[in-house]
Amino acid sequence: MAHKTQTFVMRAILCFIACLFVFNIGAQEISIIPQPQSVVVKDGSFTLNRSTPIVAVSKDDKNIAALFNSYLKSYYGFSLRVVSKGTKGIVLTTRSASGDGYSLEADPSAIRIAGNSAAGTFYGTQSLIQLLPVEKGSTLSIPAVSITDAPDLAYRGMMLDVGRHYFPVDFVKKYIDYIALHKMNYFHWHLTEDQGWRIEIKKYPKLTSVGAWRNGTIIGNFPGKGNDHKKYGGFYTQAEVKDIVAYAAKRYITVIPEIEMPGHGGGAIAAYPYLSCFPDEPTRPAKGVSWSGEVKGKQVQQAWGVYEDVFCAGKETTFKFLEDVLNEVLPLFPSKYVHIGGDECPKKHWERCPNCQKRIRELGIKGDGKHTAEHYLQSYFIQRMEKFINSKGKNIIGWDEILEGGLAPNATVMSWRGEKGGITAARQKHQVIMTPNNYVYFDYQQSPKEDSVTITNNRNHLPIEKVYNWKVVPDSLSTEERKLIWGGQANLWTEYISNPKKAEYMLFPRMSALSEALWKPVQDRNFDDFKKRLETQKKRYDLWGANYFGK
Ligand code: ACM
Ligand code: ZN
Repeated sequence: MAHKTQTFVMRAILCFIACLFVFNIGAQEISIIPQPQSVVVKDGSFTLNRSTPIVAVSKDDKNIAALFNSYLKSYYGFSLRVVSKGTKGIVLTTRSASGDGYSLEADPSAIRIAGNSAAGTFYGTQSLIQLLPVEKGSTLSIPAVSITDAPDLAYRGMMLDVGRHYFPVDFVKKYIDYIALHKMNYFHWHLTEDQGWRIEIKKYPKLTSVGAWRNGTIIGNFPGKGNDHKKYGGFYTQAEVKDIVAYAAKRYITVIPEIEMPGHGGGAIAAYPYLSCFPDEPTRPAKGVSWSGEVKGKQVQQAWGVYEDVFCAGKETTFKFLEDVLNEVLPLFPSKYVHIGGDECPKKHWERCPNCQKRIRELGIKGDGKHTAEHYLQSYFIQRMEKFINSKGKNIIGWDEILEGGLAPNATVMSWRGEKGGITAARQKHQVIMTPNNYVYFDYQQSPKEDSVTITNNRNHLPIEKVYNWKVVPDSLSTEERKLIWGGQANLWTEYISNPKKAEYMLFPRMSALSEALWKPVQDRNFDDFKKRLETQKKRYDLWGANYFGK
């Protein structure tokens, strides 16, 4: 009898322990996106309040402490004192080891974050941010936990197109904040377009006095139901650019500027018509587009699409202009990389331009079964610009069209027309950033039926699950080729995104899915688990005051 009672008590105790384990009684739920490599929940919690110190010694750790404080101040209304000694409170340390991994140990007496690099320590504080309750309060309970973590891919980027619509400096900074909050590290800034040139170049003031402004914008989906007849534009001064680049650097984010060539140069051509093959031919609006204002001469485009009026590849003055522009742009950006576009450059003008044809003859370029002579001329254009940029100690990135007619020797390829271009480039031993339109074009609507105007116009959509399950590194590559996939990026093209609220609506929650796709290999991801964590993340979007789809 006694033996039976003993067994029963033992069983009950075991069952209780098992229940504690399964239901994690007493432990707070951990809901971090992107999901760390390893999370072990422990008993107890750390209480963060106004008297908690942050211990930070190095310049980087102090910077990271200040950023954490600024988050606390913005969303919880208080900040913490930063001290240089101690073992209690939030203790930040940065080792100089390889990679951007970190560990986070939280127990009732301290939260210790140790990064392998400053970026790693910063990512540790981003995880800490996600351990904070989503409700505001002055006493914040953080579960005891042991986290070890590191990103899968080195390049984790977001592009913002400020050409189709101009976004104010404050929003560009907010966009950078969002990149940081998702443990991403590259901001690709698409600065020049047919619809507007957005960066001050002191040697060519008309780029921003003329090229940054259009006389109107189409209403609704292309070709539009009319024109709003409002002068529209804006640009960033070099001082603003420097400020934004420094703001990003503090958040361990590199800004890569994009100066488009030889296509999508309509803003520059409106300012300096000699850049066109045919300076005297007026800008032609696309078919069916209602135009506002002046129809004479070169004009900044008022509708979306791809235009035939591109930079002339025959005239030396084009290259002089682009080199002058880059001489001002490159020093503003510490990035080792500059993006020079290369996409969507129709060859119609080059085919009938005496200067371009003369260049083709002089270079002895000939069309063959694979490409026309004009495609090889584009390759000459990009390779010539690459030589110039390499001579300044920098490397180029180009959209996958730069494969056509032969890649520039040191170019990194950004694969946007699916992943095909990226695969081809990796096989040619070139570095690749994957940004396939069918997985990560965030201008595509999120649901099959969308009320607001989008580029996909209810014909196509990009749901969050597809973003989440994106296999960034294609299976068809060999082990060696896989190493050339630097990472991935989502693009926010802004034809139909004219304001920050709409931008956020298109970004979220897909950006959370993207962050996990870039942080963890596909076999380590689980969409159902992600969806649960996303519910908490949505509350965090609310805390930030961010708009999102599925609110
Ligand atoms: C692109 O979407 N034209 C790169
Ligand atoms: Zn030409």
